[in-house]
Amino acid sequence: MGVFAGNLMWIMAAGGAARETVRELLNEGPMRSFFSITVSLALVAAGLVACTDPVMPDRTDGAAFFADNCVACHGARGRGNGAFADGLQARPADLTTLSRRNGGTFPSARALSYIYGDPERSHLARVMPEFGGAMVQDLVPVEIDGVLTPTPRVLAGLLAYLESIQE
Ligand code: HEC
Repeated sequence: MGVFAGNLMWIMAAGGAARETVRELLNEGPMRSFFSITVSLALVAAGLVACTDPVMPDRTDGAAFFADNCVACHGARGRGNGAFADGLQARPADLTTLSRRNGGTFPSARALSYIYGDPERSHLARVMPEFGGAMVQDLVPVEIDGVLTPTPRVLAGLLAYLESIQE
């Protein structure tokens, strides 16, 4: 209540009828709780805004992450011909044909879950490593199959990058 009362000091100073109105506002139960709820909500909203980084990752962020973590197997342009490719028991996928192999639509959900990995299954069950883990700390909303879905920031950037290299 202190903040709100403080803001009203100038009305109190005006005196007369205005002062009485403010007294009623401050003393009456329903109004008091209404104002304190409003102030609380405003503080919560301000807190949320302060905690959320409004800058969404884009294909440049994704390209940087891809260069650091994926090119060794998938190759600089994502065609599945990285330096390690020949030594692996499974061929790294050609990531430029994800859309074409999915009837022309980029398979966001499938690609994300594949990269993120299945926490229930062992890392050893497949050739490609799982990149989940620490990613869950920083989530951004991404529209996947028409639904805004909390998605690790690095994956959101990666998704934008992968979509941009589809042929
Ligand atoms: C150690 C090598 C290796 C690394 C590193 C790697 N991959 Fe893979 N990836 C593979 C292989 C091999 C496959 C083929 C399926 C399998 O056996 O895992 C694959 C499959 C995929 C698929 C599934 C494609 C499909 O056809 O559905 C996606 C998407 C993918 N990788 C993206 C990535 C991304 C993005 C990164 C970097 C964050 C990455 N991969 C890092 C080896 C790797």
